[in-house]
Amino acid sequence: MKFIIDDADIEKVREIWDLYPCDGVTTNPSILAKSGRNPYEVLTELREIVGKDGELHVQVVSNAEGMVKEAAVIRERLGENTFVKIPTTPQGLKAMKILSAQGVNITATAIYTPMQGFLAAKAGAKYAAPYVNRIDNMGYDGIKTAMDIHDIFENNGLNTEVLAASFKNSQQVLELTKYGIGAATVGTAVIEGLIKNAAITSAIDAFVDDFAGLVGEGKTMMDC
Ligand code: G3P
Repeated sequence: MKFIIDDADIEKVREIWDLYPCDGVTTNPSILAKSGRNPYEVLTELREIVGKDGELHVQVVSNAEGMVKEAAVIRERLGENTFVKIPTTPQGLKAMKILSAQGVNITATAIYTPMQGFLAAKAGAKYAAPYVNRIDNMGYDGIKTAMDIHDIFENNGLNTEVLAASFKNSQQVLELTKYGIGAATVGTAVIEGLIKNAAITSAIDAFVDDFAGLVGEGKTMMDC
């Protein structure tokens, strides 16, 4: 499963990218709006952080014809491997068909139902992004929806992966990790909670204390 950062706070993304084993960064218009800056300024800095081979996902906002034009500008300014995020609407499906025929990396987004996932895959998307927590908040089962989409791809021999999004807690991420979906994009606050645990901290503290008792305060395996 690819592990992706769902954020555009440059300092936070840089910190998480440095510490955790991440494969890329996803953004959407709301995430970019939080920066209050020109979107391309922020996206160029994100591209620098993830490098030329890291995944960067950038969303379009117009109708089919406009989405195709937006995709060209996004790829020109941020690299041809940039994933163009396209909402899974009828207009979006049309844009996906045109862009996938041109070899553009597409992430079908705003997915709330398995049928959206199926149609996006048929239209040539490389990823389909169900919004796990938003689905839960509607009274449906976001984890089950993501699993169903994963199964639909497998059962139909479709070359598309689930990129689950909109996580609010570690358990949601863990359930889909166990299931072996293609990718999860997770906000920085949830990433920081994934392995935060008093038992872990306490175990490490005891190791450090025991070692200090053996060889002296502040000494490490380099200097004893
Ligand atoms: O891009 C989609 C995803 O990031 C939505 O997450 O937290 O706004 O539900 P959230």
